[in-house]
Amino acid sequence: MTEPTIFRDPDAMRNWVLERRAAGERVGVVPTMGALHAGHVSLITAARETCDRTVATIFVNPTQFAPHEDLAKYPRTFEQDRARLAEVGTDAIFAPPVEAMYPAGFSTYVEPPSVAASLEGTIRPGHFRGVCTVVLKLFQIVPADVAVFGAKDFQQALVIRRMVRDLALPIEIDVRPTVREPDGLAMSSRNVYLSPDERRRALALSRALAEAAHRVASGERSRTAVEQAMRAILEPEVDSIDYAVVAEPESLECPARIELPAVALIAARVGSTRLIDNRRLD
Ligand code: PAJ
Repeated sequence: MTEPTIFRDPDAMRNWVLERRAAGERVGVVPTMGALHAGHVSLITAARETCDRTVATIFVNPTQFAPHEDLAKYPRTFEQDRARLAEVGTDAIFAPPVEAMYPAGFSTYVEPPSVAASLEGTIRPGHFRGVCTVVLKLFQIVPADVAVFGAKDFQQALVIRRMVRDLALPIEIDVRPTVREPDGLAMSSRNVYLSPDERRRALALSRALAEAAHRVASGERSRTAVEQAMRAILEPEVDSIDYAVVAEPESLECPARIELPAVALIAARVGSTRLIDNRRLD
């Protein structure tokens, strides 16, 4: 067990990373908003496999939440997170106060790439602007060799890969598979909001994605047919569907005829909790 060093100050954090790298060590960073679960832990484990040193960042980023969203009630569990990160062998934690990331008068934002426009971008305007801004800033403060993200947030990973390419950021992006509960529910910090009945109904997301995979594996290539099959599973269980689509995995365009590889993506509300999930079809 390593007790991770906790940094609140950006300059101290950056100096630590630069010293490790100057000593020839490979550094990995895993950006998170805390409330850590086995999905986050899998990203730390992945970073540890390919790096000498691993940094986790914990910051509930206000600029990626719209005013009506769950910023105030987003779970904050720093002590548990710290213990979990110690167990899995994290070397450092960057957990800045809001003022360190957004000092008074902060006004510079990243305009996200075009893949941010659809899906989450339509439902949550401004979300990816906040994500890109904070991730770019985290990369400045934690100038690691590699950053590890989860495929659970498929569009986010794509947006970040594009930003890194477009802005020539000197960091490698590693995207790792979604970790699920034994019954298929994708792990999420927001699952703690679900009542037992909602928790049961939330399984419709992974079931609908499995159905999409099954249809496509059986030769179905009509996007409407596959999307209707997903909706038929979702509609009796969820309270509203933001989207349930099959898209091309690099552009997120949705042509009428499915070409492989493709990705099925769902966002739906169960009670007042908004859940997202996706599955590659190939
Ligand atoms: P957060 O939701 O805390 O997620 C942090 C990282 O964990 C993301 O890369 C996300 O895709 C990954 N993750 C979440 N659930 C997962 C699961 N079940 N399996 C595998 N990986 C999973 O995403 C964010 O925070 C923020 O937008 C952030 C990038 C930190 C910027 O604020």
